[in-house]
Amino acid sequence: MGKFVRKPFRVAGLGEGLRMKKAVDLSLRHARDEITGVDIDKTEYSKYLKKKGLKEKPRNLDVRGRTDAISYLKAQRPESLDHVYAHFLLQHLSFAKRQELLQGAFNALRKGGRFLTVEEMHYSGQLQAELKSQGFEVFAKRLTPEQVFELGTDNAQMNARAYWDRQQLLDQIGQMPRRQKEAFFRERGLRTVEDLKKIDVVEVREFIKARIMEREGENPSPEARKAIDNILAGVSERYSERPFVAIIAKKSRK
Ligand SMILES: C[S@@+](CC[C@H](N)C(=O)[O-])C[C@H]1O[C@@H](n2cnc3c(N)ncnc32)[C@H](O)[C@@H]1O
Repeated sequence: MGKFVRKPFRVAGLGEGLRMKKAVDLSLRHARDEITGVDIDKTEYSKYLKKKGLKEKPRNLDVRGRTDAISYLKAQRPESLDHVYAHFLLQHLSFAKRQELLQGAFNALRKGGRFLTVEEMHYSGQLQAELKSQGFEVFAKRLTPEQVFELGTDNAQMNARAYWDRQQLLDQIGQMPRRQKEAFFRERGLRTVEDLKKIDVVEVREFIKARIMEREGENPSPEARKAIDNILAGVSERYSERPFVAIIAKKSRK
């Protein structure tokens, strides 16, 4: 009896980043599957390959630099992809573009296929709602910085390090001799580490709001306004022990 050989999986990584690290790693680890890395910017994936001691692009890796993820998805045959992931990409898109991308992913995925995204925790509720409204079944798992670091992409590791740097600073303040600590807080008009965290959350919220408003333009739609409020409401999660989230969205088999 002939051995059962499954069809290669078609996987797309959207907003892969300069080195396309995850797509390269996946193509090496899963030689029988077809992996495509997409980014709107240029790519220097060959530098990452070289670092790994490889001279040639794996045959199962398709690299699409200077390619918009939405156009890429629209160009795919319906139900032709098995898996799509987009780590730390969705937070860079306007509300309208995000809907286009998620709809494109839903159409391009086969039944039973999955869309996976890892983001900072404050995007969790809003992104889950947006994925559900496109027809996905959605599950979410909160992640520690250690788990996000393990993911291995450049931004995952940068975000995990930023968290550890913040924690280290708080630890250093905590360990200061009493007088030094009092002087530290007095100079800043504060009393406790909690006050310091609150101020940071307010500043970060303002920063994120400004970035979002730049993308949304003068007159965001009512849905976009609601999305902005939802996202900003969760910024204090940056000090929780699980400040990131993995959202797994499945296209039902039915
Ligand atoms: C924060 S980085 C994340 C990179 C990578 N996923 C990681 O985790 O390290 C976001 C990436 O999305 C890309 N990007 C932004 N808008 C895009 C779009 N419409 N289509 C494809 N890529 C896009 C940017 O060029 C950037 O490389």
